[in-house]
Amino acid sequence: MYRISQLAEKLGLSRTTLLYYEKLGLIKGQRLANGYRTYTERDVQRLTLLQNLQAGGLTLKECQACLDSKVERDMLVERLRLLDEEITHKQRARQLLAAMLGESSLTEWHQTLDQHAPEAHIDWLMKQGFDEKQAMRLKWLSKDMNTHDQYMADFMAVFNGLERWGPGSQADTLNALAQIPHTPHTILEIGCGRGIATQVLAAHTPATITATDNEEKALAALNDTLNAQGHGERITTVCANMADLPFAPESFDVIWSECSAYIMGVEAAFNAWRSLLQTDGILVLSDLVWREEAAQTLSESIDNDTRAFWQQEYPDMTTVAVRLAQAEAAGYRVIDHFALSDDAWLAYYGPFEARLEALQGELEGARAYADMQREIAAFHARHGAFDYQMFILQKR
Ligand SMILES: C[S@@+](CC[C@H](N)C(=O)[O-])C[C@H]1O[C@@H](n2cnc3c(N)ncnc32)[C@H](O)[C@@H]1O
Repeated sequence: MYRISQLAEKLGLSRTTLLYYEKLGLIKGQRLANGYRTYTERDVQRLTLLQNLQAGGLTLKECQACLDSKVERDMLVERLRLLDEEITHKQRARQLLAAMLGESSLTEWHQTLDQHAPEAHIDWLMKQGFDEKQAMRLKWLSKDMNTHDQYMADFMAVFNGLERWGPGSQADTLNALAQIPHTPHTILEIGCGRGIATQVLAAHTPATITATDNEEKALAALNDTLNAQGHGERITTVCANMADLPFAPESFDVIWSECSAYIMGVEAAFNAWRSLLQTDGILVLSDLVWREEAAQTLSESIDNDTRAFWQQEYPDMTTVAVRLAQAEAAGYRVIDHFALSDDAWLAYYGPFEARLEALQGELEGARAYADMQREIAAFHARHGAFDYQMFILQKR
């Protein structure tokens, strides 16, 4: 037998709550001759069951119905569904906290957040102490803030030894250049990397060229190359973010961007860069696209791993038709577009693969190394599923 104070202590409930339960008829105390209420083990068990039901999300009224064995099946099914949802939610929150403490990988969380709230993701990373450049690299490359520095060190160990940082070739650059209906005088190159295309533009146009990138080491390497080639005076390098370029409107008659616009989003680049072009100015950019036939039968024709790889690495990847529609909607006329040659793919992936092999001993086991190997595998398994497309557009 329990007195009300003992019952309250045993169950962690207040006296007032128990009196309220008594009023509702959930428990029934026996009054002793001296006026004290006493409760039995049965009351303890009813209350324990009630507490369990409450923890499952049932209201007091629903608990009472259950205790009095008028179980409402539909109500319980609904409560169970809500409870499962809450548990999943809490498990995700738990995984996030564990990952933030370095106990597991943050990759999936970064990717999910990036899909649903890309700007909040970048803002949040910047609050964690990453500058904009590193936040963007985290989004595109390392996808894990706990291992970001090591990832980037391994990644750059490979790329600092390569001249070309994306598919392209001198012939394809010249092919695009030949479509420009005027002689370029002021070219802005965006995402120039180590300047593989810059050098072609310098050698084949009389233009002054402003070559921009946000990787200082790449720009320093380009400056050395240009000085050695005697082009130093006509070409200026500027370290700048492609999403926030420090130039006055209508400063250039040509904008050139090979393999880089995807970083800020091709559609966003169409819109943002247009104001930097003079009237009738030309935008040349290249982008990875699904081949039309492949896009229509994405599920069947493309090797699963390849599809999964690009859907994860470049979720915004789309078809030529979609890019052309976006360009027109942004205020451009399409002059031409063409798929880069096989040589262009090999000019990038050939040296890239050779460099990975050369660094295998040093980098094997590193996450960056595994990701780069996956990219090479996706290239080999491409089977006509995607192209690198060059777009030549004129500002309307
Ligand atoms: C795939 S590489 C292409 C480089 C070069 N166009 C080529 O084909 O070798 C992309 C380039 O964009 C640069 N980049 C990345 N994020 C950038 C940003 N927010 N602003 C400017 N450049 C950026 C990288 O440093 C890199 O040089």
